[in-house]
Amino acid sequence: MTSLPKAEVHLHLEGCFEAATIAQWAKAEGVTLPRPQEDLFKFSGLADFLGFLDLACGLACTTERLVALSYGLSQRLADNGTGYADVIFNPTHWHAWHGRLGAMLDAMDAGFKAAEQDGLPSVGLCVSLLRTQSADEAIELVDALRASRHPRVVALSVDGNEVTAGRTGPRFADAFRRAGDAGLRRTVHAGESSGPEGVWDAVNLLGADRIDHGVRAIEDAALVSLLAERQIPLGICPTSNLVLGVYPSIHEHPIENLRAAGVRVSVNTDDPALLGASLVGEYALCRQTFGWTDEVTRSVARTSIEASFASADVKTRLLQALKAW
Ligand code: ADE
Ligand code: ZN
Repeated sequence: MTSLPKAEVHLHLEGCFEAATIAQWAKAEGVTLPRPQEDLFKFSGLADFLGFLDLACGLACTTERLVALSYGLSQRLADNGTGYADVIFNPTHWHAWHGRLGAMLDAMDAGFKAAEQDGLPSVGLCVSLLRTQSADEAIELVDALRASRHPRVVALSVDGNEVTAGRTGPRFADAFRRAGDAGLRRTVHAGESSGPEGVWDAVNLLGADRIDHGVRAIEDAALVSLLAERQIPLGICPTSNLVLGVYPSIHEHPIENLRAAGVRVSVNTDDPALLGASLVGEYALCRQTFGWTDEVTRSVARTSIEASFASADVKTRLLQALKAW
């Protein structure tokens, strides 16, 4: 699957830490890890996982480390034959950078730029709110993005845990409206730790151009019809859903039923290093489990490119390569 031209649209910078890097940086900072290195990525569920992100991201406290992480993400894309990625990053997890969003964006941009100059794939940034933030904090972030107009930023995102946060669509509606008015695209984590109601709110209240996960939409036939009718794409991450306990096995995962119902689906890794996923592996898993033919595989890859927030030039190039695959 490495040769398949494709994009990735659901990938967190927070999920790209290698265990050895965390161990090395923790030692340098005098931070004690919660578990031995070999068990570091054993998570009991989404809440445990999100807590770990604070620890890992807290260690990326210098420009040099943030540049290295960003460059490493681009290298990971190239290793999987991924032509472009929308990368989510959530400022709340990066404690050393609080109050310095501009400097943080510049550091990531430097890593991605260096990668592009070395022939690695290009990247757009989706700056993310955490579900547990307040309406005022959300507006503050959007206003900062509107003021800086950083060329690397393509979208506003929201992620985090909808179980602890509750139904927060109304809380973020204003921020998402402002982002849309400023020309930012909108992508929303929903239907992972929330049921169909989270996906309804993403569509009706947050104006989502794309849903991250969205898999639990399968529990509501009217919602599945709406997603299919409006062609709102889902950025689905099968291995993540298994590791974080959304579904007990790949055979119970709804990606194929959603696809068969006419919903536009792509496959993605979410947090590849932490959850033990690779994009090539996700395609292989779906082909093996659901009997995806080359034609189905091509249509899913086409969705990944069309659903991305890449420039028109990048999309055209990748779609042409996909035709020839
Ligand atoms: N942040 C990183 N990965 C996430 C996930 N799977 N769900 C919610 N927030 C996240
Ligand atoms: Zn995610």
